[in-house]
Amino acid sequence: MADFEPRVFSGMQPTGNLHLGNYLGALVRFVELQAHYNCIYCVVDLHAITQAVDVWGGPKELAQSTRDVTAAFIAAGIDPKKHIVFNQSQVAEHAELAWVFNCVARMGWLNRMTQFKEKAGKDKENASTGLFAYPNLMAADILVYKATHVPVGEDQKQHLELTRDIAQKFNNDFAASIAEHGFGEAYFPITEPLISGPATRVMSLRDGSKKMSKSDPSDYSRINLTDDGDLIAQKIRKARTDPEPLPSEKAGLEGRPEADNLVGIYAALAGRTVEDVLGEFGGGQFSTFKGSLAELAIEKLAPINAEMRRLVADPGYIDSVLADGADRARAIAAPVMNGVRDIMGFIGGKK
Ligand code: AMP
Ligand code: TRP
Repeated sequence: MADFEPRVFSGMQPTGNLHLGNYLGALVRFVELQAHYNCIYCVVDLHAITQAVDVWGGPKELAQSTRDVTAAFIAAGIDPKKHIVFNQSQVAEHAELAWVFNCVARMGWLNRMTQFKEKAGKDKENASTGLFAYPNLMAADILVYKATHVPVGEDQKQHLELTRDIAQKFNNDFAASIAEHGFGEAYFPITEPLISGPATRVMSLRDGSKKMSKSDPSDYSRINLTDDGDLIAQKIRKARTDPEPLPSEKAGLEGRPEADNLVGIYAALAGRTVEDVLGEFGGGQFSTFKGSLAELAIEKLAPINAEMRRLVADPGYIDSVLADGADRARAIAAPVMNGVRDIMGFIGGKK
């Protein structure tokens, strides 16, 4: 395949609060990648509206959540000057390329998407067509920057495979036109997923078989980045466990999803291995372990929480970060979209 300049892109939805799963599955990695790549981090507001209005909360809540997620990005350590932070709807090229991809992706590909099935639930007839086409917009988010690497949690793996399929089909279907317009062998890169945050799948604190999620009706199922120390301690104390003491070996966590999850969270927050954590806590009671876990979670999350509060108090600053990021994102996306116009035969691509 042709060489593409390395570039990282990832997105998070502004629906409700960011939680520990977002942090350990994605955000920590977003921060680390800044040292090695040019990175673009996007608050994906166009994705948020794919669900029912009561899920994303309506216009006022969408604006607030967009600012909250931006604040979380910055508070966690993303540098919006060296890299790019913006909200998706400010760069029209995302939606424009998504339309082209609606015509590249096949119904059969989208019919296999498990996230659609989960989010649509039993009442598929009533799901928005945007929810069904959501993965095409996600592919456009990534490919409108020709991004080569995408850090995400485990739940996004299938969407990234679809992104690769779309890029491949576009490159194949239009190979002659791509070459004719001087773009070489391939217009879009085949993006590499980076599923390697400290914990790629953090589970609900109430049910070890469900992932921690913004949309879980129980707030006790998750630790939000906006929770204060007392609430974090209370949620961990109330987290579901089983009656056995903690095992001393990793194999002993099998068939014990709640214990596995809590130990995994501890290891991820501490930057230690699960074996190492079990070496310290194995054989002990959950109550002791939970006390240490609460202390560690508060130590790691409190500074982020404080910085988020400070940032959210200044919406003017947040909005200026987003506007500046959008300008710089557009400068990359516009020529890529113009190339697509030429390749497709849309008149007026070259400006
Ligand atoms: P979302 O909140 O769905 O926009 O997800 C934003 C990012 O967080 C994506 O990279 C997800 O894969 C990641 N993520 C969401 N929930 C979890 C979880 N429970 N465990 C690990 N990563 C997660
Ligand atoms: N679909 C992702 C999620 O729900 C969010 C997202 C949208 C995204 N566009 C993206 C992630 C592009 C990575 C790259 O978590």
